Amino acid sequence: MASIVWRTEHFEEIDSTNTWLARKALDGAPEGLVCATDFQTDGRGRLERTWESPADASLLCSILLRPDIDVDQLQLVVAAVALAARAALVRLSGVRPDLKWPNDLIVGNAKIAGLLAEIVAVDERLAVVVGIGVNLTHEGPSGALSASVRQLAGVTIAAPALLDILLDELAPRREQLDSERGREVLRAEYERALITLGQLVRVERPDDAVTGVATSVDATGRLVVEVDGVEMSFAVGDVVHVRPSSRQDG
Ligand code: BTN
Repeated sequence: MASIVWRTEHFEEIDSTNTWLARKALDGAPEGLVCATDFQTDGRGRLERTWESPADASLLCSILLRPDIDVDQLQLVVAAVALAARAALVRLSGVRPDLKWPNDLIVGNAKIAGLLAEIVAVDERLAVVVGIGVNLTHEGPSGALSASVRQLAGVTIAAPALLDILLDELAPRREQLDSERGREVLRAEYERALITLGQLVRVERPDDAVTGVATSVDATGRLVVEVDGVEMSFAVGDVVHVRPSSRQDG
């Protein structure tokens, strides 16, 4: 594909950037449309949770992508955006977050960003809205294991500046999604950034939970966990790190 063209619509206030962009996607909006806001009145997180942030304290945005992939490869789209956000944070703040499968950016045990990916349409190509919230000056809900970039790096980053760099980092990763070879490069980068690997994890599913050691990410982005000597792959679920990590790479 030709290099993607980003077009950002900015709102001072909106219900949810994901909701707004999903409506646009259904109306046929082109790939590359981005919705950004200073404040959300109905910000949404994963698993029907809410996502709250005071005004002007976070990067709050959603990105419309139409990659040439199957529905079951959605996690690779999440990976592309998460890796782009991580690279942008390194470039702008020096903070180097790890990725926590499936959708978080963390520093130590503290979450600094979360992603929410939603499939909007399955036509000849998938339309995917990927929303991301990055705590810039807001430390997250009290009592939660979360932190802000300002707290960690001592710098205040402007949300538009972070979004610009994030989109710049996303463009090549978005291209990788369209080919098997590109997806393999992306998957390998994802594995290197994923603090979850090598850890004892409990995967909480809607009806049960299993515990094992996370070993890898498969070609579709699923987490492979060794449970009692048997490898199981997980496409959805909430991963709890049972033991703190000692991994240093990334
Ligand atoms: C999570 O960690 O549960 C995911 C949080 C995703 C929040 C972002 S903020 C911008 C976009 N719009 C939303 O309503 N949610 C995402």
